[in-house]
Amino acid sequence: MILDGKHYAAELKDVLTKQCAALKVAHGRAPSLHVLLIGNNPGSLVYVSMKQKRAFDFGIQSTVHRLDETISREAVLNLINELNNSTEVDGILVQLPLPAHLNANEIIDTISPEKDVDGLTSINLGKLIRGTPSLVSCTPLGCMHILKKWKADISGLNAVIVGRSTLVGKPLSLLLIHADTTVTVCHSKTHNLKEHTMQADILIAACGDPKLIRKEHVKPGACVIDVGMSRLSDGSLSGDVAFDEVVHIADAITPVPFGVGPMTVAYLMSNTIQAMKNTHAQID
Ligand code: GUN
Repeated sequence: MILDGKHYAAELKDVLTKQCAALKVAHGRAPSLHVLLIGNNPGSLVYVSMKQKRAFDFGIQSTVHRLDETISREAVLNLINELNNSTEVDGILVQLPLPAHLNANEIIDTISPEKDVDGLTSINLGKLIRGTPSLVSCTPLGCMHILKKWKADISGLNAVIVGRSTLVGKPLSLLLIHADTTVTVCHSKTHNLKEHTMQADILIAACGDPKLIRKEHVKPGACVIDVGMSRLSDGSLSGDVAFDEVVHIADAITPVPFGVGPMTVAYLMSNTIQAMKNTHAQID
């Protein structure tokens, strides 16, 4: 079974565009997303332009704030505070990575938790640990959606995540714990990776190491979700899983591209709609 993220994202888009239209009728404007893009990281330029295009497709207003690589900490914090205080702004996202002179944690924690569509503020990460989240990182939400398409009830299964990032591995481990799976998180210092991954009913590769997961890492019948997306020296795009090998062993697998990627974008739009509901609940 190929888990077709592009198709699931299109299904989600049908629901979300209707919600956007209803919000526009109720409040006189569409949900709005503001993205801060600092510097010229080539990956970030591609991601941000894709997010902007997709926002338009969903009926969401998107504004990109292109800021110079050398911008001061104070200027970034002032802009975020301005956006926090604006009733016209629903979602705020600071594209990562940031230039070395800026402290990402400080900058992210300046975003109002109600507008934090990446779910990366200390408040939203803390709520996620408690199981009372409002806004959760988009890629983990996309992975959980795909898993539900594989099996309605994943309770009791062994889930192994390869990668411990704050954006994906850590929040996803919490969502999987809340879904009653038994979670193992592996990373670059893990001894005998294969021993862990071979126990996985659900294997999630989110380490950014192209084709790290080979057929010998995968238990027959597992569900394999590939979050990786690396640009190789020949210009091609590669996931963290050797798809051509693993597809014959797994029960289900996501392709790269058109697996997790479209779901991440769809959940960014979902979070922006949620953020508008959050801010308007405060006004009402
Ligand atoms: N850089 C790469 N992926 C992401 C993402 O999902 N959010 C942010 N803010 N930065 C990123």
